[in-house]
Amino acid sequence: MRLTDGEKKMRDGAEGAAVAAAMDLLVRYGEALGCEHLCDIRNVAGTMTQPSPVKARLAAEGGWDKAFAVINLDCDDDIEIPPMRVPTCQLQHGFGPDAAGTVPYPGKMMELQSDAEVFYGRRGVSILATCTPYQVGNLPVRGEHCAWMESSAVVYANSVLGARTNCEGTASTGAASLTGKIPCWGNHLDGNRHGTHLVHVTTPVDSFAGWGMLGYFAGALSGEQRPVITGDLGRPDLADLKHFGAAAATSGGVEMYHIPGITPEAPDLAAAFGPGGVPEAAGYGPAQRSAVYEALNSQGTSTDVDFVLLGCPHASVAQIWRVARALEGKRLSGSTRLWLMVPRALKDVADRSGYTATIERAGGNVLTDSCPAMSRVAPAGTRVFATDSAKQAHYLPAILGIEAWFGTLEEGVDAAVTGRWRGDLP
Ligand code: F3S
Repeated sequence: MRLTDGEKKMRDGAEGAAVAAAMDLLVRYGEALGCEHLCDIRNVAGTMTQPSPVKARLAAEGGWDKAFAVINLDCDDDIEIPPMRVPTCQLQHGFGPDAAGTVPYPGKMMELQSDAEVFYGRRGVSILATCTPYQVGNLPVRGEHCAWMESSAVVYANSVLGARTNCEGTASTGAASLTGKIPCWGNHLDGNRHGTHLVHVTTPVDSFAGWGMLGYFAGALSGEQRPVITGDLGRPDLADLKHFGAAAATSGGVEMYHIPGITPEAPDLAAAFGPGGVPEAAGYGPAQRSAVYEALNSQGTSTDVDFVLLGCPHASVAQIWRVARALEGKRLSGSTRLWLMVPRALKDVADRSGYTATIERAGGNVLTDSCPAMSRVAPAGTRVFATDSAKQAHYLPAILGIEAWFGTLEEGVDAAVTGRWRGDLP
């Protein structure tokens, strides 16, 4: 890998041992990829504060410096961690102390996370604590090179914002935060951003659930490549696009998609595919839609619903408002819980707007920072859950050993109020 003089100085220790370890990691990572150089970046979204038993042991042994060195820099030396070199934010992590009593998440993990927030906050890590940093202040611009983790955020950054990031890991984002560098490969390069698969939609896709199902189809079709979507699409909003991308990153490993006229780099179909030309289209019609719906509902047998989960990826303000409106004047079934996951900064908006009070009056909870898939917790005794998220319907049965129903927000609210799943193909 070719390094600039400044990068060589960092590698050789001119800026301290932690920066040298970070640069060493990036060089090893880049060389393993066959990458020729590093990109300059000034936007990192990673995870430092997420608690775990390993982190607890390392922090007890050598403080947070030790934990960061081992986990985020792959370095066993005793080194001091300096302030971040570039703006860095914490993505989703565990539940915070304000969820105690609502979420059966270990108090020790909450304490560990709070401790970590203090350490990393002092070093310039903004604790956004959400899988949707783009909703709460970290909004990269078109062409901006970033180092982000979290598949649903990465696909949104590339496809909706036109920023450039691969799906990075704990160590590469840690090293990027101390150096302002990341290997320049994959989605950073023009030639790797064109579409590879064409999906032509012939059934209306005009709802949040509909966009999730289409994303699930496109991801299964494209794997780790880049679908281009045309046809009967209406005008998707922020929530539709974040659900589409999250679903495509779940059934496949999609990190970038194009919707001509919406994706910044794809004003039209020809631009979406670039020099490779437009391939033959795979159709997405009523039969394909129905097959996706069946797949997402293949884990449900009992219609007695214990738990309803909304807000994956973390809900937008408009989604929080919709949940509040759907619950207005209603009361949850005595046997069912409802959790709405939101970014902490938007919880403040929901509190001030009265949405939280409406949801809580009905018996639901507005929760921040995490989610059941991330923290591996659901309300005690959950056997069957319902959700409007294709990602959670896909993952949670395997993670928690529970049954799943997938449908619309309104069907989820109905299940929470009646305790029964009565959803149908929307
Ligand atoms: Fe976010 Fe959890 Fe879904 S981290 S994308 S709410 S699985």
